[in-house]
Amino acid sequence: MRDHFEIRDGDLAGRIGRLTVPRAGVTVETPALLPVVNPNIDTIPPAKLESEFGAEILITNSYIIKKNDHLREEALDVGLHEMLDFDGAIMTDSGSFQLAEYGEIDTTTEEILQFQRDIGTDIATPVDIPTPPDVDREQAEDELEVTKQAIADAETADTGDMLVNAPVQGSTYPDLREAAGRHASASDLDVFPVGAVVPMMNAYRYDDMVDAVAAAKRGLGVDAPVHLFGAGHPMMLALAVALGCDLFDSAAYALYARDGRYLTVRGTEHLEDLDYLPCTCPICTEYSPDDLRAAGSKRQEKLLAEHNLHVTFAELRRIKQAIRDGNLLELVEERARSHPTMLDGYRALLDHADQLEREDPASKGAFFYASNESAHRPEVRRHHARMDRLTAEGHVLLTEGGTPSGDTFDATWRVVPPFGPFPRALSETYPLTAEVPERLDRDAYEQAATGVSRLVEENPDATFTLAHDDWPKTALERVPESVELESLSDVSERLADANPSDEDATTSALDAATDE
Ligand code: GUN
Ligand code: ZN
Repeated sequence: MRDHFEIRDGDLAGRIGRLTVPRAGVTVETPALLPVVNPNIDTIPPAKLESEFGAEILITNSYIIKKNDHLREEALDVGLHEMLDFDGAIMTDSGSFQLAEYGEIDTTTEEILQFQRDIGTDIATPVDIPTPPDVDREQAEDELEVTKQAIADAETADTGDMLVNAPVQGSTYPDLREAAGRHASASDLDVFPVGAVVPMMNAYRYDDMVDAVAAAKRGLGVDAPVHLFGAGHPMMLALAVALGCDLFDSAAYALYARDGRYLTVRGTEHLEDLDYLPCTCPICTEYSPDDLRAAGSKRQEKLLAEHNLHVTFAELRRIKQAIRDGNLLELVEERARSHPTMLDGYRALLDHADQLEREDPASKGAFFYASNESAHRPEVRRHHARMDRLTAEGHVLLTEGGTPSGDTFDATWRVVPPFGPFPRALSETYPLTAEVPERLDRDAYEQAATGVSRLVEENPDATFTLAHDDWPKTALERVPESVELESLSDVSERLADANPSDEDATTSALDAATDE
């Protein structure tokens, strides 16, 4: 346990938490968005970020402040909170991003941490190296050593009650990301940003971002508060929260506004292309696209920035409610439809289903089957893993339908795609209460067949008949040869013939079981 971060509720690896920031004397609810405040440009005043948008924390750059005589003197003189007029928590970055952009900076971890402390920063950052994606392994390893040294320097620095970030680098090497996460987590620093994902997001490489974050999380462990550095587009927040990221910062709301871009949860639009504003925020209800286009450039930038922040905060609230309701994955799935590269990100997330499964609550509201990807959700893996704890004896009928009384089997189990078989007693337990469409896809049947195969493997002494409703060949191929296959209608007919007086009972029992 880390005493400054408490996890209150969770869904998948996503969680609602509380980050206590002692120097600011505040507690921040996570997932949280840290609007980036450029100390040189006052797009939206920080006081307004707090009062109108509900920002509890923001991020600014100590290196930019230090390099500007006027800002430096003012920050040292009155402190960051007064300078920016913001009472919440303030995180500052160190100049690492400038290092990545321009190749060098003239400060050290020791010096910039001291400066951050002097200006009243609440959460500080050492000088890590944001290693870009796809560099050769030697560069990734060498630069990771420098980042580890920065973490070590930060541990020995005199930082008082200021929290300090321990950034996780490692480029696109999952093993390096994981090792970096483990190293950072073992330090006595406080918050754990996953770094250098901006180039991946700029190139729409959401699948690579997912792999980098999942690897970092394996090393960091569950209880570490995790920041995704430079990420804050509303389209990808649900995906990142589902992976277990708690803090986000984004300059996108302001940078995009500067060149007429309008953020939505489905992607970015250009104001010049919009005939309608698909949003109910105060800006979009008051102005039409023509109004915004007719506004002077400064005013247009400010109004677009406000809209951009409104949608981003609204998405964060939607995500938190989804965590409370236990349907975060349904939200991720919806967002995955906004862009093919987001779908890649979602599919990459499901590749880590086993990792997510370890943190996912065992019971939630309802499982909605909304696409073939749903067949690969952690709950399906968990059901398959459960087969080794389920005992089947004698000759067992596995059926998608029901069975008449007086049947010839020792037991009847239901089979529900995508999960597979289970004894009837489990019918009312999550996730077997899933809402599944009538028109299922191949993945659902294939996963159900995998479940059947697991059950058969675990119970070598039992024999099985599978009564299936026209499963595709690719699914039936996964069922072990020892299982007798019958179509659901043949089984029903045969059992009805065996009990002619019971024909009505057969039909009604089948209906009842199907309706369950
Ligand atoms: N901002 C965006 N990415 C990074 C990163 O990797 N490190 C730091 N310090 N700041 C960032
Ligand atoms: Zn709006």
